[in-house]
Parts: sequence; structure tokens; C-alpha cells
Amino acid sequence: MTATLIDGKAFAAGLRARVAEEVRALAARGVVPGLAVVLVGEDPASAVYVRNKAAQTVEAGMRSFQHRLPASTGQAELLALVATLNADPAVDGILVQLPLPAQIDPQAVIEAIAPEKDVDGFHPMNVGRLATGMAGLVPCTPLGASMLIDSVRPDVAGLEAVVIGRSSIVGKPMAQLLLQRSATVTIAHSRTRDLAAVCRRADVLVAAVGRPEMVRGDWIKPGAVVIDVGINRVPSPEGGEGRTRLVGDVAFAEAAAVAGAITPVPGGVGPMTIACLLANTLQAAKARRGI
Ligand code: GUN
Repeated sequence: MTATLIDGKAFAAGLRARVAEEVRALAARGVVPGLAVVLVGEDPASAVYVRNKAAQTVEAGMRSFQHRLPASTGQAELLALVATLNADPAVDGILVQLPLPAQIDPQAVIEAIAPEKDVDGFHPMNVGRLATGMAGLVPCTPLGASMLIDSVRPDVAGLEAVVIGRSSIVGKPMAQLLLQRSATVTIAHSRTRDLAAVCRRADVLVAAVGRPEMVRGDWIKPGAVVIDVGINRVPSPEGGEGRTRLVGDVAFAEAAAVAGAITPVPGGVGPMTIACLLANTLQAAKARRGI
């Protein structure tokens, strides 16, 4: 392996420590940021995320409010909870865990969250702020990914950046962040022709497609920065009934032999997401009080 390994786990720990330090300073002035996390239904993966979010929120010195609603919850009921949280002065950030059960329209819920408490950065107001270069709340995963890019390639101006994936949660905001830094940005997706050739142009390649090890070593430009947002659970080759392992969207060993720097999975972008959620909650708490 020739690539520098980008240690997202260590970077995230540092970011959480910086957030905690600022939270302590705020607490001394009587301000304790609060994050409300809403989970509808019993999806086991979502339950793990929500538990981790709550634990890290408390560890950073902030208040954590957890709301667990049954899978049968109707949209009106969820919207009513969001309205309560919007009005609650102890709540600075609101996160409604996605995906939601089929009877609830996620966009209606996202649009019901007060933009100044929208720590996911999914509200159209925050999407628009990002697109127009105004200060706002930026989606956590692309925000964390951009910090990792900054850590190895602080100046991407004029470089070719390719983002694979056009989701509103990762791909589109990631492209906006790279564009803000004056990269030449391409968003590739499932309909892109000759994806390998597009990727080979990339000085910065961000993979956010959710397809295990789709990006091969010969898709990587020598020396490129490779950011793997994928977290895919696949059967473990070492056998063992029901044994699984986590892989990214990038074939790591192949890519690491060509790239200049690369994030591992796990331990790359993943840990950055919750750290950025805490950073966003702190930012929301300060902004709401004019600090
Ligand atoms: N589900 C998976 N990722 C996310 C995220 O970043 N925010 C929310 N609200 N739900 C998610």
C-alpha cells in the first residue's frame, strides 16, 4: 500500500473533543446545547445509530432527548412531535432518523423542522443556503468527508473532483462543498456512461453509492484522494455461518495501491458523521442565541 491512510476515527475523536471544550465554555455561561433524536419503528440498524448519537451527545456535555415512537405512528402524530420540539427552548437540534415507515412522507417531516434546528441540513432552506454559499447547517456526512479531504488536500481549487452518487443526504451536498472550494466537480450516478473513465479523471474521488467494492483499483488516478462513504455489510469470506464484515464502495486494497490518500471502512467517514452532528448542534445552539 502506498496511500496515506486517512484516520477518520482519530479525526472524529479530535473534533468531538473540540466540541466538548466549547460546550464546557458555553455551560459556564449557563447555555447547555440540546439535541433531540426521533426514531420511528424498530429498525435495528437505526436503533444502534440513535443509541450511539445519544451516548456521544451526553459525552460532549450536551443534553440528549430521545423520542421513540412505534412503527405504526401516523404522519400527523410525528409532525405534532416536531412542532413541540421546534417550540422547546431546551432543544437546539432536531434529527428524525431516516428511513421512516411507508405511511410517513419524509419530505413533509424534513420541511416541518425549524431550519435553525435542522442539524441534518436537509431542510430546503439549508439546502438553498449551501447552494448559494450562505451560512447554514450542512449535512453531517458530506461535512465530515470534506473535513477529511481538507486534512490531506487543503487546497482543491482547480482540481477534478468526482462524486459518485446524487443523493440529497450525501452526493449533492458533497458536490456543493467541493464546488465552494473551487474544485471542478462532476456528479456521477447510476446512469453515467463509462463510470470508470470518469473516475480516472478524479484528483478527489468520493464514492457514495452503497454498492460493495464497486470502485476498482484501475478506476483510481495515481495519487488521488479517495473518500469512501459506503458502509456495506457483506458475508465474510472466512466463512462461519452468518458471519459478516463491513466494506465500503471502494475495493480498498486495490485502490490503496494507487491512491495518494484513502479512507478505510470502517474507521473513515463513518465516525465523522456523529462528530459533525455534535458540531452542528453546537453551531445551532450558538446561532440561536446570537453567539
Ligand atoms: N439515516 C442514515 N443517515 C442519516 C442521517 O444522516 N440523518 C438522518 N436523519 N437519518 C439518517
